[in-house]
Amino acid sequence: MSTATLLLKGKEYELPVMEGSEGETAIDITSLRAKTGAVTFDPGYGNTGSCASAITFIDGEKGILRYRGYPIEELAKSATFVEVCYLLIHGNMPSIPELDAFNEKLTRHSLIHEDMKKFFEGFPPSAHPMAILSAMIASLSAYYPENDNELNIIRLLSKAKTIAAFSYKKSIGQPFIYPRNDLSYTQNFMHMMFAVPAEGYKVTAAIDRALNLLLILHADHEQNCSTSTVRMVGSSGANLFASISAGICALWGPLHGGANQQVIEMLQQIRESGQSAKTFVERAKQKDSGFKLMGFGHRVYKNFDPRATILKRAADDVLSALGKRDPLLQTATELEQIALSDPYFIERKLYPNVDFYSGILYRAMGIPTNMFTVMFALGRLPGWIAQWKEMVDDDKTRINRPRQVYVGSKVRELSEVDEALALTIA
Ligand code: ACO
Repeated sequence: MSTATLLLKGKEYELPVMEGSEGETAIDITSLRAKTGAVTFDPGYGNTGSCASAITFIDGEKGILRYRGYPIEELAKSATFVEVCYLLIHGNMPSIPELDAFNEKLTRHSLIHEDMKKFFEGFPPSAHPMAILSAMIASLSAYYPENDNELNIIRLLSKAKTIAAFSYKKSIGQPFIYPRNDLSYTQNFMHMMFAVPAEGYKVTAAIDRALNLLLILHADHEQNCSTSTVRMVGSSGANLFASISAGICALWGPLHGGANQQVIEMLQQIRESGQSAKTFVERAKQKDSGFKLMGFGHRVYKNFDPRATILKRAADDVLSALGKRDPLLQTATELEQIALSDPYFIERKLYPNVDFYSGILYRAMGIPTNMFTVMFALGRLPGWIAQWKEMVDDDKTRINRPRQVYVGSKVRELSEVDEALALTIA
């Protein structure tokens, strides 16, 4: 085993070096504090490997993303979302009997407890669907005990789409539409979203394929903010539903999954303002403007985000298959071209990320803007589950508990405050 030598205050320490299966190098510092008394300082964890994981591989320089070894491009072309769920959670693509059994279980567990329907009544019509989703997912733990994780994984995967669709129906004042056992996972979601009692809703092949594509592209992304949150919460022994609910809250932020909603709002703002896309690019370069190009930049990808490349290509195809035109696609393309030839974005290696084009596709499918991050959450669910399961099954897992570098006051006497107060009163 190779080691790294640390020279600290004139003393040398040997630290083990780990190598990942794709040649990634990591200095194992688990013994650092015990040996040296020092901790590492890495705000935002940009250099910290928080776990060893066999689920997803990313090479941010080369724009590579693989789930369990399979390139995202191949999965996006040939797999269904349910197959990818199975792959991420179980480690291999399912055989036909395994897939049938998995689908059957997902179908059987798609209803939510009737009492849970009352929860929706408590939310104001203006409630953001991510607030409803996180609350409802945490509430599942009140109905399903912790002792059967395998079944709870199925329940969570299956019921999340029902909850998401019900929250939309509630927001537009329409009755809930129950899942149908003859429909697939993705068809069922669209059916529950858009059918009305008087008439059904036909999920076209183009919409079904587009939804599968979007969910597959979102399905996992190794130790991102929401996944690390799921692992962080789960490391305390919190149950599956509580851990995933925390991940949903982390995803909601505009710097993470919430960016997809913000991208469309930004594109609309550009069109409505009558100003050029270039004006907005210039504004994004001014640090004090408080404006960023949403859907641009990534902590890991420094060349291109392969998910954005796939989605950009798909946007034209999906729009024409659905017989739709969206002026926002033109604005997005124009904005991308200007930013990609601007030295500010080139020097900082800022490229469109997955959220830049996903909203255009969701819009074409009829999904309202405030549901975009819910769609991301539905897609990311198998990744969160797989990562949670990997953590729970790993006997080396410890409660996640980072250290800090304290920079506050040194010890002070409370009596000094009393004296100051006494003076003020006098
Ligand atoms: N617009 C303008 N400038 C940007 C942008 C942007 N979208 N993104 C990064 N920068 C600038 C930063 O200001 C910084 O400039 P500096 O070096 O002069 O200080 C430099 O580029 C590096 O950016 P950081 O913020 O340090 O990068 P970090 O890795 O911390 O953040 C993040 C990554 C959060 C994605 C960031 O690029 C961002 O805020 N993008 C917009 C929001 C977004 O699209 N989020 C979705 C990400 S994908 C996902 O989570 C699914």
